[in-house]
Amino acid sequence: MERGKKVFEQYCMPCHMQDGSGVPRLNPPLIKTSYVLGDKKTIIEIILKGFDAQVEIEGEYYQNAMAPHDFLTDEQIADVSTYVRNSFGNKASVVVPSDVKAVRNAIKK
Ligand code: HEC
Repeated sequence: MERGKKVFEQYCMPCHMQDGSGVPRLNPPLIKTSYVLGDKKTIIEIILKGFDAQVEIEGEYYQNAMAPHDFLTDEQIADVSTYVRNSFGNKASVVVPSDVKAVRNAIKK
């Protein structure tokens, strides 16, 4: 969690804000969304590939696109996913580096 917080503050906070609340119409909140709390593959894939789907998230559309963060290590992505899934009122299972590795390999193919 501590390591994940550091990754979050460095790479995610500028857009999603310290408390995960996002910025209206630009960057979505990370609070209890299906992307954050669902299958851990979803959040790992979003971090690796970025996200620009023009999707509706909790009744709002967001104009910004999220860049891919595939330069982060499996460990950093596991830590930040665990942090996000267990912060801001969220509660979901932890993510370990081997989960990230599996998604990374699946994307590459
Ligand atoms: C440049 C700004 C930016 C950065 C940096 C960024 N995001 Fe995002 N993120 C977005 C935007 C914009 C969307 C929505 C894209 C869309 O509507 O298609 C999004 C969507 C998401 C979603 C899915 C939607 C939701 O609200 O649940 C998750 C999860 C997420 N980001 C997590 C992260 C994590 C974790 C990091 C740090 C590793 C991060 N983001 C870094 C802008 C950013």
